[in-house]
Amino acid sequence: MATLRWLTAGESHGKGLTAIIDGIPAGLPLTEEYIARDLRRRQGGYGRGRRQKIEQDHAEIRSGVRHGLTIGSPIALLIENKDWVNWQEKMAVEEVGAEIEKITRLRPGHADLAGVIKYAFDDVRPILERASARETAARVAVGAVARRLLDEFGVALHSHTIAIDGVEAEVDGEPDWAAIEDSPVRCADKDAEQRMIAAIDDARNNGDSLGGIVEVRAPNVPIGLGSHVQWDRKIDARIAQAMMSINAVKGVEIGIGFRGAVLRGSQVHDVILPIDQWGERPWRRETNRLGGTEGGMTNGEQVLVRLALKPIATLPRSLPSADLRTGEAIPAHYERSDVAVVPAAGVIGEAMLAIVLAESLLDKFGGDHLAETLRNYRSYLKTTGPRGGLAVAPPDEDTTEV
Ligand SMILES: Cc1cc2nc3c(=O)[nH]c(=O)nc-3n(C[C@H](O)[C@H](O)[C@H](O)COP(=O)(O)O)c2cc1C
Repeated sequence: MATLRWLTAGESHGKGLTAIIDGIPAGLPLTEEYIARDLRRRQGGYGRGRRQKIEQDHAEIRSGVRHGLTIGSPIALLIENKDWVNWQEKMAVEEVGAEIEKITRLRPGHADLAGVIKYAFDDVRPILERASARETAARVAVGAVARRLLDEFGVALHSHTIAIDGVEAEVDGEPDWAAIEDSPVRCADKDAEQRMIAAIDDARNNGDSLGGIVEVRAPNVPIGLGSHVQWDRKIDARIAQAMMSINAVKGVEIGIGFRGAVLRGSQVHDVILPIDQWGERPWRRETNRLGGTEGGMTNGEQVLVRLALKPIATLPRSLPSADLRTGEAIPAHYERSDVAVVPAAGVIGEAMLAIVLAESLLDKFGGDHLAETLRNYRSYLKTTGPRGGLAVAPPDEDTTEV
């Protein structure tokens, strides 16, 4: 059983979203304000629809925290849907006497068709309500808890927009993360930012939508999270699944990913530097083309992941489709929608990476109290230097005779 487990529940226009996180050690400082920051970041970004103005998400901590510290029990989070007041009848839990209009105009690019067939509905509503990316608000809240844990280990997470539509950002080295938080499209390249905004305006004016690419980065990850020994413990595989599960993500790249396929080995692999060039962390590399993972484990370099998002599927200029009742040609259903969600996807990507890293970190270091997890982590760091015969530095605790 994994050390950290979590689930979300909730429909887009239901009463709210719920998340339960089990396995966070006791003693971790955690507040609703801390979680609120990431929820706000998810809601921002040029190209989002009116829904974000209605919601202003806030996650209430219902359990697992006492006097500002986690107590080791499951953490339950509740995010109310402010829009619920407008949907009480359409989304009522109890039976309602009134006839509620069914959605039968299937939307290409959504869960609609496969969902109604698989779950045997004559109405798309019950499918689209859960398939909606509204659920990612709950994931971002869970991700914030994971991020809070990673803070204690010096692991920070950031994201930025690499491309929207055909407009690509040019970014050399480490982006200015503070400036990205102020960018409406979360882009480090100011010139590209303006062209991205223009592309979103153009798509909106034409009843169309856009996709793009975001990059998520996590520096200071210790060597050895994940494992080479079993397929489902490989950290690159866990990252790929977590990222691919984000709505509209159709491609995941770790490091140079697909770009590496057309290069030679000598142009791809990250040369291991000798000790006199390491600085503060051991076993540094000349480059980080492989994005911080080798053999299913983190290698101490920055974890670097890119996500490719398809354009939003709900278009004001509805795509041709068919009706669920009759099979006859009919334009797809249109429901209030975003034009581009690439900037928000970066924040969701951070959350998913935070969860995978926190999971893998707890798998490796365990601990019921944060102090124990940190103690195990620090002991391990002492063993990560050069081996030189038997020269692995023994952890302090290992001096006890048994
Ligand atoms: C933050 C975010 C917001 C989204 N908002 C919308 C939206 O307003 N309209 C829409 O059609 N799709 C939206 N999507 C994408 C759909 O949820 C997604 O494409 C759909 O559920 C089908 O899943 P799939 O693309 O992963 O196959 C959004 C995705 C994200 C990440």
